[in-house]
Amino acid sequence: MKNRHIKWGLAALLPLLFSCGGSRSEMDRFIDELMGKMTLEEKLGQLNLPVTGTIVTGQAQSSDVAERIRKGEVGGLFNLKGVDQILEVQKIAVEESRLGIPLLVGMDVIHGYETVFPIPLGLSCSWDMAAVEESAAIAAREAGADGINWTFSPMVDIARDPRWGRVSEGAGEDPYLGAEIAKAMVRGYQGPDNSLSGNDHILACVKHFALYGAAEGGLDYNTVDMSRIRMYNDYFPPYKAAVEAGAGSVMASFNDIDGVPATANKWLLDDVLRQEWGFNGFVVTDYTGISEMIVHGIGDLQEVSRRALDAGIDMDMVSEGLLGTVKKSIDEGKLSVKAVDQACRRILEAKYKLGLFDNPYKYCDPEAAAKFVYCPEHRAAARRIASESFVLLKNEPFRGGKILPLSKKGTVAVIGPLANTHTNMPGTWSVAARLEEAPTLLEGLQEVAPDVRFTYARGSNLTEDPAYEQRATMFGRDLHRDPRSAQALREEALRVARGADVVIAALGEASEMSGESSSRSDISIPAVQRELLEALLATGKPVVLVLFNGRPLTLGWEQEHVSAILDVWFGGSEAALAIGDVLFGDVNPSGKLTMTFPKNVGQIPLYYARKTTGRTLPEGHWFEKFRTNYLDVDNDPVYPFGYGLSYTDFTYGETTLSAAEMPWDGSVEATVRVTNTGDRDGKETVQLYIRDVVGSVTRPVKELKGFRKIFLKAGESQDVTFTITRDMLAFYGSDLQKAAEPGAFEVVIGPDSRRGTKAGFELLGR
Ligand code: BGC
Repeated sequence: MKNRHIKWGLAALLPLLFSCGGSRSEMDRFIDELMGKMTLEEKLGQLNLPVTGTIVTGQAQSSDVAERIRKGEVGGLFNLKGVDQILEVQKIAVEESRLGIPLLVGMDVIHGYETVFPIPLGLSCSWDMAAVEESAAIAAREAGADGINWTFSPMVDIARDPRWGRVSEGAGEDPYLGAEIAKAMVRGYQGPDNSLSGNDHILACVKHFALYGAAEGGLDYNTVDMSRIRMYNDYFPPYKAAVEAGAGSVMASFNDIDGVPATANKWLLDDVLRQEWGFNGFVVTDYTGISEMIVHGIGDLQEVSRRALDAGIDMDMVSEGLLGTVKKSIDEGKLSVKAVDQACRRILEAKYKLGLFDNPYKYCDPEAAAKFVYCPEHRAAARRIASESFVLLKNEPFRGGKILPLSKKGTVAVIGPLANTHTNMPGTWSVAARLEEAPTLLEGLQEVAPDVRFTYARGSNLTEDPAYEQRATMFGRDLHRDPRSAQALREEALRVARGADVVIAALGEASEMSGESSSRSDISIPAVQRELLEALLATGKPVVLVLFNGRPLTLGWEQEHVSAILDVWFGGSEAALAIGDVLFGDVNPSGKLTMTFPKNVGQIPLYYARKTTGRTLPEGHWFEKFRTNYLDVDNDPVYPFGYGLSYTDFTYGETTLSAAEMPWDGSVEATVRVTNTGDRDGKETVQLYIRDVVGSVTRPVKELKGFRKIFLKAGESQDVTFTITRDMLAFYGSDLQKAAEPGAFEVVIGPDSRRGTKAGFELLGR
């Protein structure tokens, strides 16, 4: 008790330092003093992160948590929800453990807390960095009031294989956009300047470091093998950007890299993360990341724990390997106490920066929780932001007029297994969501268009295979399988469709068909739903496909046969209302894809920033012998990266450059005139792509280097200018040093990665 009072006394002298991130020397002295009192066991306790509570995000569970906190064996906890419960464990730590060190309390606050925003892949399609930051700030405010001080987000893994279920959790395929989003998320969680002030900002955790999105075959947790030049150019930028933005923690990934699991990869965690990038926060493993290395086959628990700590892991999520074996390794001379001290210090620093030593109950604020969690303002923001994330994939004339937007009158049939489900609306990884309260699509539409007569039929189950459906509807996201036959369900749907003016077909994936451990080898709309869609189209009624999906799907057939397709991902707790806002034209859709949609699984990986081969096929061609092509499918996607339509039309003028040459220390301005030529106001994301025509190593055919989301009234034009600097032309060469090389560059500004107008300039030498 006495020690603790001395400690709080010191902290109390420094109130201002807590609010501005802390001064190193004061923080150092404080931690020196505290660590001076700690036994080796207590230090190891700080490195231990057991799981408890009702939220399930993995297989193992810890028991006797309260007793273990008292003994000083716990540095943090996760998966506990509710301010009262968290207050209880925090009190045990502060009042009943010998040194009273407060706990980190983590949670997967991935795309919102109780107010849920679109799944990250959807959110990225808004291309709206203010919206991304706002969503993270709201999530932090809700979670921060409710006891959580640490979120396992942002997930910034570049993903180019849509078979991988976790593409839903990231920002898609592009390193530049991914880096911008990573920064915005960190700002949102940790606050401007990483102040972590008040309880409305919480500690971010950048994950999964690294290359998790490149798992072979799109199979979760799988092996990764990649050249370093590709890591540095394509996969590292978002992690690096998040670290530079000040993210306080990093989570190691499950996969191996160069034959060494990331959790024990010293090159990755020390050379790259700490030495090259200057990361000074702490590194946590992923769930059982240490003990899983036994299965990877690199040692027993003692050996893998030793390797993890030695590589740069500071905190052990669930494995209990550090707590259980490190003392033995030290006694046997296999590890130094210094390694433990260093990790312990990093954990204590994070707690200090969070202000927990100043006020351990800072994040347990029932009043603020009651005020902010799931409040109307947050839900309104979630609705607005969700509507920005939807991507209009197709809106072609049907019998003379476009189907979308719908008018708010007449009879609309809402059909499909996703038309009337609450629990599937928020999307995967929304562990704090009020699943049952999320309005169903049908309810949302009714609220947005009260004068419309809505009719409903389920039409089909999610799939015809109950076992598959079971796997795809975990975590309370139940679709309540209808026992009737596919034919009976379809016939009922057709009756309902025939009685309507328009049909909305709510089809695609259930929420848990993407996310962790949800890889698919066939990424089409399940057959029974496709058959339903075909039957609905055959009625001759106008059909809008409202597509729910956590990943790109293979939509060649749908693109060919359906006149109107709106991709709504999983839009969060307010998704249904936002879908109504867009379908009925209160909001003009403006989302653009951040992952390429392939024609079939065989084309994967398919991404816009590909390289040429020596035998590249010109765009728009298909088969030529001795060229890089398939016999049975061309090389084009169904929808390219950056693609998305609007209810209005935008035209692009010529791209003009301020100069044909860029001096080594200079810049060039690239300008394009964008005009809204349609009859509705709308937003457009103008995209800048650059190609390095000749390099010392092969370079992608184009790379996104800038974008601007603009608003144009009907008939209005705007000149959009990007300043191109040398830094934007730089890349990592064979020596893994980043540099620009003099020579020719092509610039394309356009509405997506396939269209636009081109110009060129030359970067002059030094
Ligand atoms: C996931 C992480 C998550 C962790 C804690 C793991 O299975 O890979 O993304 O943060 O569980 O729930």
